Amino acid sequence: MSKKVALVTGGTGGIGTEVCKELYDQGHIVIACYLPVEEQQAYQWQKSLSEQGYELNIEPCDVASYESSGKLVESINQKYGTVDILVNAAGITNDKTLSKMEPEQWKSVLSTNLDSIFNVTKHVIDQMKDTGFGRIVSVSSVNGQKGQFGQTNYSAAKAGIYGFSKVLAQEVARKGITVNTVSPGYIKTNMTDAIPEEIRNSIVEQIPVGRMGEPTDIAKAIGFLCSENAAYITGANIHVNGGMHMC
Ligand code: CAA
Repeated sequence: MSKKVALVTGGTGGIGTEVCKELYDQGHIVIACYLPVEEQQAYQWQKSLSEQGYELNIEPCDVASYESSGKLVESINQKYGTVDILVNAAGITNDKTLSKMEPEQWKSVLSTNLDSIFNVTKHVIDQMKDTGFGRIVSVSSVNGQKGQFGQTNYSAAKAGIYGFSKVLAQEVARKGITVNTVSPGYIKTNMTDAIPEEIRNSIVEQIPVGRMGEPTDIAKAIGFLCSENAAYITGANIHVNGGMHMC
């Protein structure tokens, strides 16, 4: 595939970093977006990746905000051109059983994990239609499919991503744009590190391959969906969960 402009939300995170590296290895101009309050960490991340041979670009954005997402895309358009590849990888958890969950815990997870998909995709979709090419991959979760104790907010948001993606896939199928989801299982990142060890161990016991996944496992699947070879795959979901949930 010729050189494309690829935007990865949550690009400086555990899975996001490997996605950025994968798309860079495919020859694309890659922009990772980071939360404005995490600017110092983002510069450190960029420096460390550069030392490993990855020249990645960074842009601030709060993807939970429609306005901030618009500014992000505007800035990318000015500096690099139109966005050809969008990977929606920004996400947070805030686990609690529903009895204990505060409205703010619901809202923050829904806005960062689901509203963000609308906020960013809305700002790139027309430019993809104009160029006649686009790849959109959103990171859902095994827990959006099977549900997870303590995650009414997260599972609802991740399940919503499937509906969004299947509809958008139909709306833009004739414009050279594919829209897909990848659903990670339990992957070694800061997010899963935050699960109390005892609970995490009991979850790992339920994974048929007997271990947690690596961020590269997800990045490889996303990289494939972003490639020329995946032009006939749209409205699809790829499970990358070690066999934890099969459907
Ligand atoms: N099934 C049934 N019962 C369970 C349970 C389960 N899976 N987990 C906990 N319980 C029980 C507890 O033992 C407790 O029982 P008692 O009341 O009899 O003591 C009861 O349910 C309620 O527990 P808490 O009051 O402690 O509940 P809480 O509101 O404080 O929340 C929790 C607990 C934070 C949700 C904790 O259970 C937890 O961390 N669970 C793991 C959640 C998880 O897997 N998150 C994934 C994060 S990573 C991710 O999401 C990435 C991805 O995409 C895969």
